[in-house]
Amino acid sequence: MTIQVLNEGYQNDLQGFYVSKAERCYLYDQDGKQYIDMAMAGGSAILGHAQPEIQQALQQQLSLGSLYTAPTPLAHEYANLLSQSVTPYQDFIFCSTGSEATMRAIRIAKAYTGKKKIAVFSGCWHGSHDFLLIEEDYQSPLDSPRAALKSAGTPVELLEHLLLLPYNHQAAVKLIKEHANDIAMVFIEPVQGSNPRDDISGFLHSLRNVCNENNILLGFDEVITGGRLAVGGGQSYFNITADIATYGKTLGGGLPIGIVAGKKDIMDCIRNAPLFMGGTFSANPLSLTAGLTLINYLLNHPEIYQQINLAGQRLRQEINQFCQLHNINAHMMGVASLSRLVFCKRHIASRRERDTHEVSWDKQAEFYLLLKKRAVYIGGNRINFISSTHSSKVIDKVIKAYQECLFEWHQQGII
Ligand SMILES: Cc1ncc(COP(=O)(O)O)c(C=O)c1O
Repeated sequence: MTIQVLNEGYQNDLQGFYVSKAERCYLYDQDGKQYIDMAMAGGSAILGHAQPEIQQALQQQLSLGSLYTAPTPLAHEYANLLSQSVTPYQDFIFCSTGSEATMRAIRIAKAYTGKKKIAVFSGCWHGSHDFLLIEEDYQSPLDSPRAALKSAGTPVELLEHLLLLPYNHQAAVKLIKEHANDIAMVFIEPVQGSNPRDDISGFLHSLRNVCNENNILLGFDEVITGGRLAVGGGQSYFNITADIATYGKTLGGGLPIGIVAGKKDIMDCIRNAPLFMGGTFSANPLSLTAGLTLINYLLNHPEIYQQINLAGQRLRQEINQFCQLHNINAHMMGVASLSRLVFCKRHIASRRERDTHEVSWDKQAEFYLLLKKRAVYIGGNRINFISSTHSSKVIDKVIKAYQECLFEWHQQGII
């Protein structure tokens, strides 16, 4: 009999790599070999792994019990802190993952507006529930993308409830106007993980305007950006207020969390409709404790954002200079402390352009294996996340490893 774990991360290309310990910016495999971690728990571990203040707070909370399924003042304390520092809102739904949060945001938007469709963007990722497990089929014209199911076993009928929009393309605004009567919410990651970029502010503002003018809700999926770009996430970074926002990852301090926040009249429909929002692990005291400790720490150490954002900038700059110097067909794109290597020289405006011009995903796996041999671990989504524990010496090592691997591939004529 062969027992298999079929969802152990999305990376089955690392040849028997199993983590036994994580500390600061390092992972350790079963033989005790140390790796610089650039995945950082999918971006969640902004203060590094096993952060002492969070560990201490968790140990204290553990002694008081880990799950109550009854109200706890911690939820109110956390909601207060969120409303003072993360969002402009006072009403929150807590759940356990980013996927749950986006699923609930969709339910709220549809119930509040009475409209049928959610508009999302080509290249988006909003989690693993059926509703948004879609991708662009890439056969359709750039300015009117068609959605296809990303997974077998999900109902094709759900596609009727979606409008897929081109990302970072003004045709999106035209499509939103044309379908305004059907669209409950335009839902977007302020920065798409698949092509993290700093030049997206104008596009986001144009979405805010068209949603205002056409009575459509604007939802920001801040599961990556919340707490990562700034404590207040993409909304504060790009100076835009969404009507509904979803959070997860970083704001859980390393423990599972999902959060939906929204304008009062929208969130009121949860009680009025009423909408179902329960869950066994929702607002569990451990996640709340870790999240509270993390946000307080970030508020007391605002210099962290300057440090990690500068480190991200340096990572991109030094890799890009190296590629230009050696005429290597690659560049690193990103914003603040998140970056991604793109295996082509040309500027890309979207994930569709990225996928069209770079070497295949399977081939890329070989590149990341080369980096792993140099003791640098990049996660399955290929995003490099920098934490406050990545010192400049650590970043030097990451840059050197990237440069060596890029040069090796260049010499082999791959890029
Ligand atoms: C923007 C975005 N939304 C939602 C999710 C889903 O979050 P989770 O994996 O916690 O379900 C993710 C996860 O990567 C994400 O990046």
